[in-house]
Amino acid sequence: MTFTSSIYKIPIINNVIVYDETDSTNNRAKDFGKKGCVDGTLVISDCQTAGRGRIGRSFSSPSGEGIYMSLLLKPDIDENHVSMITLLSALAISRALKKYYQIDTNIKWPNDLLINGKKITGILTEKCEDFIIIGIGINVNNKAFNESLSDIATSLYLESGKEYVREILIENILKEFNVLYYSFLTEKDLKSIINDYNSKLISYDSDIYVIPYELTSRLDNTYKLQEFNLPIYHCMGIAPDGSLICRDSSGKLSLLNSGEISIRSV
Ligand code: BTN
Repeated sequence: MTFTSSIYKIPIINNVIVYDETDSTNNRAKDFGKKGCVDGTLVISDCQTAGRGRIGRSFSSPSGEGIYMSLLLKPDIDENHVSMITLLSALAISRALKKYYQIDTNIKWPNDLLINGKKITGILTEKCEDFIIIGIGINVNNKAFNESLSDIATSLYLESGKEYVREILIENILKEFNVLYYSFLTEKDLKSIINDYNSKLISYDSDIYVIPYELTSRLDNTYKLQEFNLPIYHCMGIAPDGSLICRDSSGKLSLLNSGEISIRSV
């Protein structure tokens, strides 16, 4: 992948490192961070041999098809603000797809983007020493997925019938992220994006199962959640700190933290 100098016009970007192949761009970014690289280092790879997702899952990363990138940042924020940046990233990608390509996406809290109920994007945010890494994977020009993924994953190509220039898409996403990130650094919360985020939230104002992480990691694609006797809540959108506001059957409100649970629509 080759980038023009216009990527450096995005204020947040100070260094771009491109690989043909690596195990995981998050791993590479972490190595650069430990060696003291600059804030705003972006690592991109044409493919990954060990792309990682949340909860120890893998992220399929074939060559020439998707976007696999990790942005290293050194924001002056508390540890408990880091998860908010994941939500900002999801919104930035969703806004870029709408603004530049007229593609509508939904957000599955906290960080997956879906089109027609299938996953198009995953985000893995990691904190290490004095930096954070936002790892973004997007299914762009994939023509097909293997049997284990075809029911749950899709690509921009499969949804629109068009191919996309990944370098341009990356720049467009970073432009949107840049705007959101700088205002977040001033505000230190998500108040200003709550309405937009909730308008894209897949389970907004509907019933959800709340799944503890220990269980999420054991589930495959064939599970039936009804068998687990999980609590059902009504999803009321995100709070300014990025947690999910939920109401139980007795009317009591709780704030659910993305580090502890995941959700599924009932
Ligand atoms: C998820 O779906 O749970 C998150 C997937 C994150 C994948 C991206 S691809 C670029 C970066 N490198 C990785 O190993 N993971 C992230």
